[in-house]
Amino acid sequence: MSEQRTLVLVKPDGVKAQHIGDIIARIEHKGYKIEALKMINATKEQLAKHYQDKVNAPFFPELVSYMQEGPIAGIIVAGTNVVPIIHKMAGATNPGEADWGTVRGDFGREWPDGNLRNVIHTSDSPSEADREIEIWFPEL
Ligand code: PPS
Repeated sequence: MSEQRTLVLVKPDGVKAQHIGDIIARIEHKGYKIEALKMINATKEQLAKHYQDKVNAPFFPELVSYMQEGPIAGIIVAGTNVVPIIHKMAGATNPGEADWGTVRGDFGREWPDGNLRNVIHTSDSPSEADREIEIWFPEL
């Protein structure tokens, strides 16, 4: 077990539905520390860096437009083994398939337009977390 940092982004649908507080409460109730927190209007450049492996995916333009529907909340979370635990808290990519008890399972849903909106992003490894934190919190 090691001390880690991870990045959480509350996506525009999560912000609009006022779930920032719910998500922070889950993180704090679990005993993890909120190390930094801010509202961000994501630029296309930041999104292309963050989703660098997906820029050629067919869904990338839709992903960018989704992430620019409104502000997102960037949160750095610190604690023991925090990366996999917070990733598990998010739940499956598609909210329709995410387990109850996860953020996507509890706060997400499938939308009639068929577009994927899944409330939250969480880093999936410690090295990805460091890379992503540099993109969204370059001042730290
Ligand atoms: S993959 O390559 O299909 O396995 O992609 P995956 O790892 O599941 O998802 C990578 C990120 O892209 C987001 N995603 C989408 N966003 C909008 N629309 C569509 N159709 C779509 N498909 C995948 C997915 O939520 C992942 O982003 P994060 O922020 O990590 O959740």
